[in-house]
Amino acid sequence: MMKAFQSLGALRALASLLAALCFASTAIAAGGSDVPLSKAPVNLRDAVSLQRGAHLFVNYCMGCHSANYMRYNRLTEIGLTEEQIREYLLLSGDKVGSTMSIAMRPADAKEWMGKAPPDLTVIARSKRPDYLYTLLRSYYVDESRALGWNNLAYPNIGMPHPLWQLQGQPVLKVEERESHGHTVQVRSIAPDLPGVLSAAEYDRAVADLVNFLTYMGEPWRLHSVRIGIIVMFFLAIMLLLVYLLKLEFWRDVH
Ligand code: HEC
Repeated sequence: MMKAFQSLGALRALASLLAALCFASTAIAAGGSDVPLSKAPVNLRDAVSLQRGAHLFVNYCMGCHSANYMRYNRLTEIGLTEEQIREYLLLSGDKVGSTMSIAMRPADAKEWMGKAPPDLTVIARSKRPDYLYTLLRSYYVDESRALGWNNLAYPNIGMPHPLWQLQGQPVLKVEERESHGHTVQVRSIAPDLPGVLSAAEYDRAVADLVNFLTYMGEPWRLHSVRIGIIVMFFLAIMLLLVYLLKLEFWRDVH
């Protein structure tokens, strides 16, 4: 009994260590900024959202970022046919079995933007979906920056706003508020020049893109629920068979 309590204690210690690690990694992922993260509405069962996300990713991100660990033909998993992949997603020269790589050389990108764009295949696992959702909705115009953009979630980011045609060109809004007798500055972004999407449509587009990035980092999650159901079904049948076998073995004894 004592042993059981001890191992329960060890399990608890392990659980709190894991929780602390998760917390630390979210804080690191947020790049040291104090902007509160918005919850990304990720739903991997929404195939239409994943398809829209894939479309946005190819059109707006693959100018600079690769997804070298993902193949185009894997996208049949999110309900696209090979024909649709070929027609709407493939960059010229790529085959449907190619990885989602790009031609831009990291060294050139670094020279132009100060930092090389990271490969995005597993970015949602390292940075977490909520951070990505917040990052892409926190850009503002900043003339003091070389490429004209800054970001509340990642101050002085090297990446210019990749979706500005869709969102427009927001500006920084700084408000002073009283809090416990102190004046604090609250920084947020406010719409200015409009883009082709309304604010709600833009949030939806970013949600679809983050949904796709989340799927790309863990494509097996699409299957895990289905596999879980099959395993439970298998166990139920096994239980029944084993029970019948037990009845058979013990029939002569009783
Ligand atoms: C014009 C080139 C360019 C385009 C287009 C672009 N990026 Fe980037 N991206 C960069 C560069 C450069 C960095 C490195 C920035 C840094 O760390 O300062 C980066 C970094 C990132 C990061 C890492 C941020 C972090 O916290 O370290 C994410 C996530 C990202 N990009 C997502 C996207 C997505 C999603 C798209 C498409 C909507 C996109 N990028 C389009 C150039 C680009």
